[in-house]
Amino acid sequence: MSPTPHALLFPLPMQGPVNCMLKLAELLCISGITVTVLNTDYIHRTLIRHSNVLTRFSSYDNLRFKTISDGLPEDHPRSGERFLDLFDGMKTVTEPVFREMMVSGCFSFKSDPPVTIIIPDASFSFALDVAEEVGIPLFYFETVSPSALWTYLCLPKLIGAGELPFNGNDLDVLIKNVPGTETFLRRRDLPSFCRLDDVDNLVTKIIMKEARCVPRAHGLILNTFQALDETVLVHMRKLCPDIYCIGPIHTLYKSLVTTQSSVSNSLWEENATCLSWLDTQVTRSVVYVSIGSMAMMTVDQLFEFWHGLVNSGKPFLWIQRPGSVIGEYDHNLVPKHLIDETKQRGFITTWVPQEAVLAHSAIGAFLTHSGWNSTIESIIEGVPMICWPQNVDQQVNSRFVSEVWKVGIDIKDTCDQGIVEKAVRDVIDVRKTEFIESTRMLAELGGQSVAEDGPSVMDLNRFIKTITTL
Ligand code: UDX
Repeated sequence: MSPTPHALLFPLPMQGPVNCMLKLAELLCISGITVTVLNTDYIHRTLIRHSNVLTRFSSYDNLRFKTISDGLPEDHPRSGERFLDLFDGMKTVTEPVFREMMVSGCFSFKSDPPVTIIIPDASFSFALDVAEEVGIPLFYFETVSPSALWTYLCLPKLIGAGELPFNGNDLDVLIKNVPGTETFLRRRDLPSFCRLDDVDNLVTKIIMKEARCVPRAHGLILNTFQALDETVLVHMRKLCPDIYCIGPIHTLYKSLVTTQSSVSNSLWEENATCLSWLDTQVTRSVVYVSIGSMAMMTVDQLFEFWHGLVNSGKPFLWIQRPGSVIGEYDHNLVPKHLIDETKQRGFITTWVPQEAVLAHSAIGAFLTHSGWNSTIESIIEGVPMICWPQNVDQQVNSRFVSEVWKVGIDIKDTCDQGIVEKAVRDVIDVRKTEFIESTRMLAELGGQSVAEDGPSVMDLNRFIKTITTL
């Protein structure tokens, strides 16, 4: 007889991945699986401060939290470029502590069964080494997009074929060695670290190591639905046969766990008053602007955005996350018309319940950094995107948005008020009908995937069956 299943979930300490893992935790719990969520101390403290996770999770008697150090001092910055410091901290502190925790079996609280399966973020290659040492099966949860993961998996091929590092400065050259994307993926659409002059840098090394480990895992969980990522899944399955597409996980969560809008896994205090402001706006008229939990912008870029938004004449809801602007500006020197028109048509705040915002009928466009969670949340709500990608997978995601799914405009590598203004007008007015049609079709496919017997529900059930019979 198989031992009682106990899954250990270990998210990457960032908003998007933490949110996905917590939703997976609840999905597994309601199926009777014992779950331990291992968060970094920093994430756990922040979650407790700003979300309702403790109250929510207290209703499950088969769910525990454990914490582990990320190796950085409490006040160390953890966004923008400084995010990379986490990988040093994790290498020197988290990795040995995690190994010790696994060897000592410290996850068996009271009468809990021992851990029978480990589900870490796919960037934790060290977790696979530990899992193999202690003989526990490991399934990766990849929280970046499948299309970006596919480019990671193809990195050795790109280097071997001389496509990386780039030869010359032309970023519009098509890439030949990422099967399935040959007709549309350009150099500029590869993950941002591919632009570095040599491949011997920290990010490329981390990602290459991650990519080498993915096929070694028992299986791979992806936050997508089959119809969305067919282009790359068909190729990826040749390397990783056991793939579970359980996305959009937040929609699956709503259909299987709860539809309550009060669910929050936020690392910042949410300002829900924007929803009342949205209630006063015309259908499909508002531009929602957010660059997610990590990306940053300079003061110059902030002003290009600001002028572009104001000049478009459309109402806008703009998230300015604390610490997301590099540099300072004198508020007394901001042009008067920007201030006046923002008062009339703008709502600026630090953090909002994004899923509820995107679901609001007043939203007409999402000006986004193209993080994977934001992208899939926008897709399922049928909101067209204006993509301004910054890091890692975002360059790939934005190309798929504009060229494969055709649900938005990609303005990568520009930051100009005229371009922002035109993109807003195009999405909300000029190309409105075209985008309503394309976003509706994709949202419907996403909805079908999480309906009863939909492919994402079936994959979740298949996953649960696999881990309960291992
Ligand atoms: C990071 C990387 O930047 C991204 O490229 C990768 O795909 C996942 O990890 P992040 O910056 O956190 O992502 O962006 P994203 O993946 O879009 O996740 C942001 C999450 O924060 C979303 O789930 C979104 O709903 C939530 N959010 C954002 C809020 O709840 N409120 C906000 O105001 C803004």
